[in-house]
Order: sequence, then C-alpha cells, then structure tokens
Amino acid sequence: MSIAHGIKRLGVLGAGQMGTGIAFVSALHAKVPVLLHDKSAHQISKGLSLIDKLLAKDVSKGRLQPSDADEARARIQTVDALEAMRDVDMVVEAVTENLDLKRAIFRDFAAKIRPDAILATNTSSISITKIARAVIPEGASAAGEEGKAASGRVVGLHFFNPVPVMKLVELISAVQTSQDTLDRSRAFAEACGKEVATSQDVPGFVSNALLMPFINEAIMCLEKGVATRDDIDKTFRLGMAHPMGPLQLGDFIGLDTCLSIQQTLYKGTSDSKYRPSVLLERMVDAQYLGKKSGRGFYEYN
Ligand code: CAA
Repeated sequence: MSIAHGIKRLGVLGAGQMGTGIAFVSALHAKVPVLLHDKSAHQISKGLSLIDKLLAKDVSKGRLQPSDADEARARIQTVDALEAMRDVDMVVEAVTENLDLKRAIFRDFAAKIRPDAILATNTSSISITKIARAVIPEGASAAGEEGKAASGRVVGLHFFNPVPVMKLVELISAVQTSQDTLDRSRAFAEACGKEVATSQDVPGFVSNALLMPFINEAIMCLEKGVATRDDIDKTFRLGMAHPMGPLQLGDFIGLDTCLSIQQTLYKGTSDSKYRPSVLLERMVDAQYLGKKSGRGFYEYN
C-alpha cells in the first residue's frame, strides 16, 4: 500500500534554480499549492519567469493542456515573509550552502510552523544531522521526547539540476530522522514525478561523494596536460554516453559550488581523494565560475 504524503501545502525557501524547479514540479505534478519565498525580489521575478517559460514550452509541445498549465501556475504564490508559511505541511529549503545560515533558518521555522510539518533541505553536502540538531528547543534534551519529535522531522531531499528534467531525488536520513518523515518525504518526491534513492548522512551523500572526485580528477587531468578540455569531455560523452563531459558538468553545476562541496567532503573525511585541485581553486579565485558567470572551462554568451 502506498503511503500518503499528506502535503496539502508546501513552502519553498529560495527562488534560485533549485527552489524554482522544486516549486515547479510540486505545483505541476504533485498538484500542491506552493508558497515561494526569497529575500531577493529580483530572484523571485527571475524564478517566476522561468516557471512561465517552462509551462509555455510544455503547452507548445502538446504535453500539457493550457488549462492545466494555468492551474499549475495558479498554485504558485510568492510570499514576502516566512511568517506566511505558518500553515505549510512541509518546507523545502534551497538557499545558499552555508551551515550556519541553514541552522538559523531551520531553528526559526521549527519555532513557527506546525509541529508535524516536515523540514526538508535540498543541501548537496551539508550534514542533515547537524541541521536537525539545531531545531531542538533550548533546554530540551536531544534524546528526550521533545528533542526527538523536533529533530525527527528534519530530512534531506536532494533534487538535481535541472529539476524539471532530472528524474532523481536523493533522500537522506539524518541520524534523528523519523520513519514517518522518511516515508512521507519519499511519497512526496514520487508525487513530484521523481524516483528516489536513499543515502545515509555521510559527507556528499552518495551522489556527490562519487561525482565530485570524478570532476576533480578531470580538472587534474587538464592541469597536468594529460588531455585537452575537449578530449576529456568527449571521452565521457562519446565513450560512456554521459550527457555532458566532467568539465562541462563542473561549469554547469558552478565551479564555486564544486569547490565548496569538495571542501566539505575533504573537511568531513580528511581523505586526500577529496582535496580540491589547485586549478579549480584558481578558477574560482578568478571568478570563472562556469555557466552562471559567463566563463569557466568554456565560454558562454
Ligand atoms: N530547466 C528546465 N528544463 C531544462 C533546463 C533548465 N534549466 N535546461 C534544459 N532543459 C530541458 C529543455 O527544455 C529540454 O526539454 P524538452 O526536451 O522538453 O524540450 C531538455 O531539457 C533538453 O534540453 P536541450 O535540448 O536544450 O539540451 P540537452 O539535450 O543538451 O540537455 C541537459 C540539457 C538536460 C542539461 C543535459 O545536458 C544533461 O542532462 N546534463 C547533465 C545534467 C546533470 O548531470 N545534472 C546533475 C548535476 S549535479 C546536481 O544537480 C546536484 C549537486 O548536488 C551538485
């Protein structure tokens, strides 16, 4: 028997690429009303125009009825303040990768929203267990009933970019996550049209623990002159049927994001296989961040 996710209203925090994509699939496929918040009005308007573009494309390709597109769009509402999310059944946080920021946000949310609401993070490498620890009310013990109930509703729900296209959600259990939170989060990701793979809360989870050393090795190959940029990428596109070679993928993810994930992996494991390459650090120093900055290993208009 499938488990009901019970999400009647969703909050999405952060209207960047990831938050916007999560709002889109939730409104379109899970058919759930979404409250979208970002502190930047510019980011919100960029996010909404991307959603309009994606819906219009699906309609023009005959994959979506105009009335269904209108209904999906009407389900997405933007809100100025987090207070407006008081009644959501789940919040998915997709803000900058910074542990202190995420801890502060989760602590704030935990105090404001319903005690049975799920607190999910889209983090790609930060420890879910550390985030969950932050929601325990002051004075409560982590192992006591109050502490367990508070931290048990924190979970990792890691979507992949571009969210409307990539079929996977990685479901990450913190040490404290309750089975009910895991079951309902899985059911919700499936309602969004995704397949779920689970991972324990280790640095980088499964996805980035494997992907980041791969991208880093490719950068080191380039650094050492083993092969040219184009040949490194061609090897994986044509030899292994990857949609993008590792250098192009690094640009697509963002080289600053790759560096930050690698630093988290290296710090979290002390394993030299995760040490970021000097060339990656220099690219980030130069603000050659990939697609988003117009230049990385490739140039973009
Ligand atoms: N948002 C929504 N849809 C997008 C999109 C975006 N940003 N970019 C492309 N698409 C859609 C296009 O609209 C198109 O859809 P239709 O077929 O419905 O028309 C489809 O994707 C294919 O796009 P294109 O034909 O323009 O280009 P493509 O065939 O080269 O595919 C790609 C582009 C989907 C990005 C493909 O190159 C790809 O799959 N690349 C690998 C992406 C990947 O590995 N992502 C994971 C990164 S890791 C991560 O996200 C997690 C982390 O923690 C770092």
